[in-house]
Amino acid sequence: MNGPDRSGILAWLRETDESRLAELWHEADGVRRERVGDEVHLRGLVELSNFCRQQCRYCGIRAGRRLERFRLSDDELAECMDLAKRLGYGTVVLQAGEDPELTTERVAGYVRLAKCRAGLAVTLSLGERDDDELAAWRAAGADRYLLKHETSDAELYRRIRPGCELAQRLQVLRRARELGYEVGSGVMVGIPGQSYESLADDILLFAELDLEMVGVGPFIAHPDTPLGCAAPELMLPECEQVPATDEMTTKVIALTRLVCPDANIPATTALATVNTESGRELGLTRGANVWMPSLTPGRYRALYEIYPNRACVGDSAESCQECLQRRIAGLGRVPGRGPGGRARRAQ
Ligand code: 5AD
Repeated sequence: MNGPDRSGILAWLRETDESRLAELWHEADGVRRERVGDEVHLRGLVELSNFCRQQCRYCGIRAGRRLERFRLSDDELAECMDLAKRLGYGTVVLQAGEDPELTTERVAGYVRLAKCRAGLAVTLSLGERDDDELAAWRAAGADRYLLKHETSDAELYRRIRPGCELAQRLQVLRRARELGYEVGSGVMVGIPGQSYESLADDILLFAELDLEMVGVGPFIAHPDTPLGCAAPELMLPECEQVPATDEMTTKVIALTRLVCPDANIPATTALATVNTESGRELGLTRGANVWMPSLTPGRYRALYEIYPNRACVGDSAESCQECLQRRIAGLGRVPGRGPGGRARRAQ
């Protein structure tokens, strides 16, 4: 296996000495440069719908929450695809809650639209879906499937996703892999009740699953969800509870780069939300190589409220484009061209 072993990972997660941590950032940045280069791949994120049948206890678009719901029309989606093409993005990510109205046929049509009309690589992120659906979308041309497992700790998983099982989610990832998708997953950092040991196991699981994409963001409390006003008894003692900070998140990004050197790793919006000033830069200089600007029509953006005060939520796609180009250049990096798939298969 690449990178540190479990005890090495744990030591880094608990490290507080800034000069030692500088070695971790340096090593992760070096592996990033050597393995995936200086390109920062741009994935245009389109939020298709904020309807969801799940009750995830951390998420602001959970079923049952009072919230104005939206679903993009076919015309609106077509406009997003044109915008992605105009802005030069090689990939679109079609994301939604687990919305039963996003039927097999409807999504297959969206995939064909993105491929034929705009020639884009398509990543789907639509939750736990049946084998048949995954197969139909793959046949329609979808390239990648993204399904974060959120935590590798089966007990914690049950607590934050009532009625759901970690094993079932991992099975969907395996199935997507068998169907020939590039597969992505990821976790939240600092979930109430998340221990350092379980976070180390999250990172080891990324390597075991041999993921092409790994998204890591801090847990952000949403006050109108059960976990957003977490009862103190859910939190572990301070020495055991993982903090949901930018530093801890970038430690996980850096360690992920070491154990999955060829993976595509985004500097997430959640990281930019806990550190609006420099969250993206911290991610991109500590192992990340992907930026996912939103292409969701402005009037819907704030309604995809998985957590509050999301970074960039009030910005237009054009202003995001200007901002990210400037910030990527400021790091001496270059925006990616083309679909930006996996650099190479793991050895
Ligand atoms: N804090 C941080 N990330 C969240 N997500 C959902 N709710 C929250 C939250 N409260 C993330 C999950 C999910 C992705 C779409 O958004 O990781 O997979």
